[in-house]
Amino acid sequence: MSGINYSEKIPNNVNLSEDRTLQRALEQWQPNFINWWDDMGPEGSTDTDVYLRTAVSVDPQGWAQFGHVKMRDYRWGVFLNPGEQDRKIHFGDNIGEKAWQDVPGEHRANLRRIIVTQGDTEPASVEQQRHLGLTAPSMYDLRNLFQINVEEGRHLWAMVYLLHKYFGKDGREEADALLQRNSGSVDNPRILQAFNEKTPDWLSFFMFTYFTDRDGKFQLCALAESAFDPLARTTKFMLTEEAHHMFVGESGVSRTIQRTVDVMNQLKTDDVAKLRAAGVIDLPTLQRYINFHFSVTIDLFGADQSSNAATFYSSGLKGRYEEGKRADDHVLKGNSYKILSVENGTLVEKEVPMLNALNEVLRDDYITDSKGGIERWNRVIAKAGIPFKLTAPHKAFHRNIGSLSGAKITPDGRVVTDAEWMAQVGEWLPTNEDRAYVASLMGRVVEPGKFANWIAPPVMGINRQPVDFDYVRFN
Ligand SMILES: [Fe+2]
Ligand SMILES: [Fe+2]
Repeated sequence: MSGINYSEKIPNNVNLSEDRTLQRALEQWQPNFINWWDDMGPEGSTDTDVYLRTAVSVDPQGWAQFGHVKMRDYRWGVFLNPGEQDRKIHFGDNIGEKAWQDVPGEHRANLRRIIVTQGDTEPASVEQQRHLGLTAPSMYDLRNLFQINVEEGRHLWAMVYLLHKYFGKDGREEADALLQRNSGSVDNPRILQAFNEKTPDWLSFFMFTYFTDRDGKFQLCALAESAFDPLARTTKFMLTEEAHHMFVGESGVSRTIQRTVDVMNQLKTDDVAKLRAAGVIDLPTLQRYINFHFSVTIDLFGADQSSNAATFYSSGLKGRYEEGKRADDHVLKGNSYKILSVENGTLVEKEVPMLNALNEVLRDDYITDSKGGIERWNRVIAKAGIPFKLTAPHKAFHRNIGSLSGAKITPDGRVVTDAEWMAQVGEWLPTNEDRAYVASLMGRVVEPGKFANWIAPPVMGINRQPVDFDYVRFN
């Protein structure tokens, strides 16, 4: 079951050939996907051979095989983790009942919506990142970008498989629409706003893969608990791919910091103008990028009170992060949870029914997890002997969804007037000048083993290859 069959047009470990109708439907979708990749995938990459990993099985050990391939020849396919025998629903109103192998009629609309929303983010991020290859800071980084892009393409396949197999005609239409919406399109944009923003430079890319791919991790973890077993199994395998995306983000920011603190020590200065003249990204600018990406990403978890969140949980569609490890009744009927709002000019906590606050629960779990990397970045700064600490902004800072939407709150959690906000926002969020400066650093470096001036080399190469390996071959 876990081995992947590569002899078919669509690689899979779900015995696709046993269901001819489904196989044919997916084979009809396949050329549309390739057309989308050609039109909206990484720009100017058609002839390049990239050192990519491909899944050979879904076993935790040795699922990947590495080799140089053209991205459009990547074997996108359908890979599910093996099913658990007699798996039971372990949360919500149907707790203890058998997990579903098919979609119950009453949950069809909600499940479809969940799958489409998740599926929409996958090609969206490829579209957001499509120009970045032109300004890669190294061949190593270029390869990592491309690896992420092909895997996001595969995540789209994962969701499209579910739509085709379990949602009939509606599902096929939704699968087509996933290739028709485009990130940033005026007429037909992606579903979630964060996926319509630009990823204009590599610092944004690293922040995006650290913070926003981590939102992906938390959403996938919540779906991996689902009573709808095929969704749980497919998201479990997606999570193994997602780990690499967050690694690229965390190590990318870490290497940026490393280079900055090295230059700070060489020049014995923390003067922003001097550091910019030396072509590195000053720590206050990094902090502003963190503030931006953190706040935009935590909005993705949705409103702090949501009746949909309650429905999704109680009906077993979407669990909490690490649902199985929690010691409560997994029904949550009488429980409460604290959420924040602004009353009379101050931030106040109020208790609300936990079921309605499950978006907030997931957001808080995300926040705890994302702070870990910021602490690891601080170790790079501390090791260089520099007295500066990066921090996550307050949860209420720069929010655009839920009860904090539009409130003017500083990164350290003080409610301020509109005038104070306007006067200081340039210290908290990237300014046009910051973005223009970062953009000015972006230039293509693709000689093996060479790195742009603003970023340090990685400690190790990919798959134990040397750092100066030819990860990308330009033909
Ligand atoms: Fe993804
Ligand atoms: Fe990802």
